[in-house]
Formats: sequence, C-alpha cells, structure tokens
Amino acid sequence: MEIIIVANEEEVGRVAADKVIEGLAGKATPVIGLATGSSPLSLYAELSRRAKAGEVDFTHALGFALDEYVGIDPAHPESYRNVINRTVTEPLGMAPERVRVPDGSAEDVQAAAEEYDAAIDAVGGVDVQVLGIGSNGHIGFNEPFSPFSSRTRVEILTPQTREDNARFFNSIDEVPTHCVTQGLGTIMDSHAAVMVIIGEGKADAAAAMIEGPVSASMPASVLQFHPNCTVVLDEAAASKLKHADLFRTRAAIREQYSHLA
Ligand code: GLP
Repeated sequence: MEIIIVANEEEVGRVAADKVIEGLAGKATPVIGLATGSSPLSLYAELSRRAKAGEVDFTHALGFALDEYVGIDPAHPESYRNVINRTVTEPLGMAPERVRVPDGSAEDVQAAAEEYDAAIDAVGGVDVQVLGIGSNGHIGFNEPFSPFSSRTRVEILTPQTREDNARFFNSIDEVPTHCVTQGLGTIMDSHAAVMVIIGEGKADAAAAMIEGPVSASMPASVLQFHPNCTVVLDEAAASKLKHADLFRTRAAIREQYSHLA
C-alpha cells in the first residue's frame, strides 16, 4: 500500500485525482469503479473541475458503482443510483448509460448481482477503483466477516452501518436492511485502487486497515494484499497511525525520485 498523508480534504481530492487519472491513462475505454459516501466528494469535485477545464475527458469512460440498497425506490434521492448521478455522472460529463449501479430493485437481485460482476469482467475489469471506508471498516457494503473471495451479492447491513447512514433518511427505520455490493474479491480484481479517508471519525478504521492484521473483522484490511493500492488521507484521519512518520518519509522520497518507483 502506498500511504499519502495530506493536510486537508481539498488536498485529498487533488492527490487522489492525480492517482485516478494516472490509472486511467492510455486506456481506450477507461473503466472507473465508483464509491458513494462523503469521503470521495472532494475527489469527484476535482475530477469535475479538470474535466470542465478540458484537462481530462471522461465521456468515453465506463463507470461501475460499488453498491446499492436493496428495496429502495430508485427515485429516492438517497438511492445510490441517484447519488452517483448527482456526484459523478453529471459533474464528470458522462452519459448515464455508461455508468452502471447494481440493481437493488431487480426481481431477482442475486441474479442481477451476478450479471453485474460478469459485466465488469466483460469490459476487462475496473482500471481504477475509488474507495471510501465505513467506520466499521467496510468497503462497498462488505461488512465485517464478508468472505475475502466474495463476488457481487446481496448482503445484510450491520446495525452500525444503518445507524451511520440514518442521516440520509428521515429515521433509521427507513434505512434498508439489505444491500447489493461488489464483493471483496471483485474489488481486489481492480487493476488499481485509490482509497480516500477523511476526518477523525475514521482514524481508528484507517489505523486498523493500514497497520493492523489482515482480518475478516476489518474487511478493508484485505487491501494490504492489493498489488496497486494507494490510500490518501488527511491529517485527522491519519492521527492514529503509529507509523505516520515513516509513511511521510517514504512519500517524500517517492516524490523526489519519481523516476525510480
Ligand atoms: C457507505 C458506502 C461506502 C462508503 C461508506 C463511508 O455505507 N456503502 O462505499 O465508503 O459508507 O461513507 P462516508 O464516506 O460518507 O463516511
């Protein structure tokens, strides 16, 4: 894992945008994996700014979102279909039909999930997967004890995640109990992964994921096995890292000798 600690959320957006663009460069049809949540918003805003300035072009890219609630009305403003439209598809100038979100309202959600996984494979896999992390260490909606080899599937949300996400609904009772999410195995197949972590509330999860053991109780820790994963975090999110100085030193050397590694 490459760990980059920066001053604030805006800087997270800029540095992560560089990594995303680097990972998509040179692909005829770049494939970007998309996360919802507040963490990647500065990244998407920066990508949008660069697209509007003509520095990058996403019109020929394809997008695959990580997850969706099961049973949510697709027209609900907090359905991930709508969140992705608002925060990614429109700002990046992508045609809606080029951005897929798992179908949480399909008649057979599990069959739709399997088709979704196959559709990612059919386009050659995800070139760059954008990731956030839940306070309990989930990525996508892969809650603790999700199998490391899991593929896109229907899952049950933990009470913690439903509580965390209740802020987007009128009450916790409105938060769906189920979701459909790309699996940890699906995410691990991405050619590159860029995780963004912001704020003190994520400091424990960040430390456990980066420095702790790889464990099913901390799903994001599986990324320690990813061959090309960058984690960009702000000072607050990095505040519980024991090896922050080492990460800073390595990042500085990497930048100074960028032609070497
Ligand atoms: C949600 C999403 C995740 C996201 C996480 C963190 O439950 N399914 O993909 O990374 O929560 O969200 P936030 O960045 O808002 O803290």
